Amino acid sequence: MDAGSTYNYKVVRQFAVMTVVWGVVGMLVGVIIAAQLIWPELNFNVPWLTYGRLRPLHTNAVIFAFGGSALFATSYYVVQRTCHTRLFSGGLAAFTFWGWQAIIVLAAVTLPLGYTSGKEYAELEWPIDILIALVWVAYAVVFFGTLAKRKIPHIYVANWFFGAFIITVAILHIVNSAAVPAGFWKSYSAYAGAQDAMVQWWYGHNAVGFFLTAGFLGMMYYFIPKQAGRPVYWWGARDGYPEGELRALGFAAIVFANVAMIHAVRSRHLTIVGSLRKPNAALWWITGGTLAALALAIYVPTVADIFRFAPLSAGQIAIAAAAGVAGIAWYEAYKLLRPRRSRM
Ligand code: HEM
Repeated sequence: MDAGSTYNYKVVRQFAVMTVVWGVVGMLVGVIIAAQLIWPELNFNVPWLTYGRLRPLHTNAVIFAFGGSALFATSYYVVQRTCHTRLFSGGLAAFTFWGWQAIIVLAAVTLPLGYTSGKEYAELEWPIDILIALVWVAYAVVFFGTLAKRKIPHIYVANWFFGAFIITVAILHIVNSAAVPAGFWKSYSAYAGAQDAMVQWWYGHNAVGFFLTAGFLGMMYYFIPKQAGRPVYWWGARDGYPEGELRALGFAAIVFANVAMIHAVRSRHLTIVGSLRKPNAALWWITGGTLAALALAIYVPTVADIFRFAPLSAGQIAIAAAAGVAGIAWYEAYKLLRPRRSRM
């Protein structure tokens, strides 16, 4: 059987086409609001053409319509190809396509009309939020159902990223959108005051982290090695490094980079060394805890087996630490080189 009849490419193609369409629409709205920042009269005194209504239309269109369609298309493609099996349910997959497009159209109508919950990147009103939750749960069923019926035991790394993105976005959306309706196009958040602000930006920040980062990393983990014609870890494997060591090296470098970043962003003007003079017990708990967890993951066999890490030598740990810190070093150099006058 050829790949076309083995796999469900129809829904992949539909989402891919809509990625292009919504990309053009979303960026066009971006160009309009960019022009309005210079020439505010471009709203022609028409309420639905005003900046305050078109800006959320732009962000929703580029993130959820353009980016979202790309994520649906690629995750459906990748999960089928790497699991050697057809999508779990063609009907549910079709529901996610038409449901997602309906949500986008509803957003494109309600946002310019001024219907908004007022929460950035979660502006849509409660009936649309419910539809989003339904489509997202169907997406999870299709994706994880396909994983469950995979023909090969290994779960390729891209699928872990897509899976984390799907689960996290479901939790973020459902928790942050909890609201008390006060009419069909009006609702009040279930949370009050500071709690509402905290829940909202817990959502907002993690939406960037998981919708715009984890999901897209899943995409990269499949398509970059594929396009390059080289598997992940090819470079190290070519030099004879065992895969477990390469995996542990990469992971350790990311952990070191994150620890370095936590220290670097404590201050906009003090370098890491300078800021260490300012005591902060939480900082040491976080640093110590993170490094202890890293050691646990790499050196305790039962934990290392889960991640299929091989133990690293002291020299390899030093290389991982150097690589991680080097990724943050530019910010330290920037702090040192910034003119003293502008330091705050
Ligand atoms: C032709 C391309 C684009 C143009 C002209 C454009 C223009 C703009 C403008 C004028 C703003 C408002 C800035 C402000 O309020 O000060 C904005 C915000 C934003 N755009 Fe775009 N944009 C484009 C493409 C994109 C794409 C492809 C994405 C993501 C996939 C994107 C995501 C965002 C986000 C997240 C914001 C909010 C940023 C913030 O508040 O810090 N834009 N864009």
